[in-house]
Amino acid sequence: MALDYTKRSHTCGGISAADVEGEVILCGWIRHVRDLGGIIFLRLWDRYGESQVVVDPEHAPGAHRIASGCHLEYVVALRGVVRYRPEDQIRPDQPTGEVEVLTDELEVLSPAKPLPFPISDEAPTNEELRLRHRYLDLRRGPMTEMLRFRHRFMLQMRNWLSKAGFLEIETPVLTRSTPEGARDFLVPSRVYPGCFYALPQSPQMYKQLLMVSGADRYFQIARCFRDEDARADRQAEFTQLDLEMSFASVEDVLGITEGLFSHLWRELLGIEIPAPWPRMTYGEALDRFGTDKPDTRFDLELVTLSDVFRETELSFIKGPLDEGGVVRGLRVPGQAGASRKTLAAWENIAKSAGVGGLVWIKWPDDGSWSSSIKKHLTDEAVSELRGVSRAEPGDLLLLAAGPAGRVNTALSRLRLHLAAELELIPEGSWDFLWVVEFPLFETDEKGNLTSSHHPFTMPHPDDLDRLESDPLSVRSASYDIVINGVEIASGSPRIHDREVQRRIFRTLGLSDEAVEERFGFFLEGLSYGTPPHAGIAPGLDRLIALMLNRENIREVIPFPKTLRAFDPLTGAPATVDDNQLAELGIQVRKIGSD
Ligand code: AMO
Repeated sequence: MALDYTKRSHTCGGISAADVEGEVILCGWIRHVRDLGGIIFLRLWDRYGESQVVVDPEHAPGAHRIASGCHLEYVVALRGVVRYRPEDQIRPDQPTGEVEVLTDELEVLSPAKPLPFPISDEAPTNEELRLRHRYLDLRRGPMTEMLRFRHRFMLQMRNWLSKAGFLEIETPVLTRSTPEGARDFLVPSRVYPGCFYALPQSPQMYKQLLMVSGADRYFQIARCFRDEDARADRQAEFTQLDLEMSFASVEDVLGITEGLFSHLWRELLGIEIPAPWPRMTYGEALDRFGTDKPDTRFDLELVTLSDVFRETELSFIKGPLDEGGVVRGLRVPGQAGASRKTLAAWENIAKSAGVGGLVWIKWPDDGSWSSSIKKHLTDEAVSELRGVSRAEPGDLLLLAAGPAGRVNTALSRLRLHLAAELELIPEGSWDFLWVVEFPLFETDEKGNLTSSHHPFTMPHPDDLDRLESDPLSVRSASYDIVINGVEIASGSPRIHDREVQRRIFRTLGLSDEAVEERFGFFLEGLSYGTPPHAGIAPGLDRLIALMLNRENIREVIPFPKTLRAFDPLTGAPATVDDNQLAELGIQVRKIGSD
């Protein structure tokens, strides 16, 4: 065999004892070099695995000369013969660990500069450097595993949905704004100066119009764009499984989703997940866990203790109560011995979430009690607190007072922190939960009415007559998927009646002119025979991060952006030529100048 890389006979992960004495041509990257003075050992890598390669100066002096000049990550091709490794070098845990290749011929196909970081399973700590050289980062074991997993995930999902009768349909990326609550990314038009496309925050309106078209069951692996601050579970650009069904009830959508997720967990993780999944109303979730995405793998439930403090003179409790706030608490089993330092650290977590402080009460095993507000508590009040919170000897109760929203945020954050610190989460457990019956509207920080989900969500039919008079009391039949405390998906039955849709827009404060301008095409579409429909959209990056147990969705996105939505690899976003701007009719001026 002549050495010709196009004649590669095996992958680096593909040789085994069955090939012993056979001639092979391998191509790959030099992941490791061990020069024993005479013999050189190479570890040759490709995404299928690694092979041990021996270059012996006595056997192949030409190849040895070339190998001596090779550095890490050089791309080479080699021809050689497979043989058993000496007894002491056999690695039964590795797929190619029994054999090695004795090189006859070696060729450098492409050299590599000294690396900015070593290619190993350990991630480089400098994130920006990692992203700048993402092509190198993607050569690391956990990243190639992720790429393979993502591929298999998409394939399994597509095939399952196709078998269930769903059509995969693409919708445009250059479109108009879709109101999902974030800022739009805008793209200027050259042909229509002064006009802009918006990148879709989701394909929401298109998928509803596809129901009008008769698509009946639609899905899309959809790229969504939201100009919002990134976090561990948020990117400016991310991927959803977008799904919609006509003539479908809530039960139909939930059933299809459970079926799909069961299939994915079984095929990709070998885990059976029981269905149907438990359901919890939004109200119950807030009441018991202080959040609409509760991690139900562990207890630590919140209790409301406002009544115990009705008569209190303590200003930091009386003040919030007088203003309609609440006192809520978290019983922490077995933590009556928590030190002042520990309590202070826990208080800081609550404070960072917006409450003024944290009160503690301890019930040590000896039957006594103590508290940070001891002087202000009677024995009766303490036994009431103990009764309501169901505290046992040895337990600790942590209390916060303030507006309900802040107290819930603080205690639910603290709850998660305590679960991690006290190791309350059973290893390898999966808790699937539907959170249902969200309110249709909520108010933003400025007190304005906004959609809890989006304005296309169907109001509860029994609440329709209160839409204008008492919008905050209107329920929806929307649903979220929460897995292990992570919000994975949202969905709802949609409005298919154009008049109801108009009323929602009006309730949200949009003038008829504004509605016509922004949503006229959509309302028009709804007026040509719209089947009742419902759907859902799981965020796939979050889902894959969960399945692979990665902390951050950046770990499962091939080319992610930084927290500031910057791409260190390409340098995007970047300035453009004056010519390009002129063509678009755009003039850029410094913020603050005229
Ligand atoms: P929603 O806005 O709730 O609903 O988004 C659905 C799911 O998408 C994921 N997600 C994100 N993932 C990463 N980065 C982000 N910035 C980000 N934003 C959202 C979450 C979320 O649960 N059109 C509706 C769906 C519908 O009604 O069918 C929608 O987009 O996992």
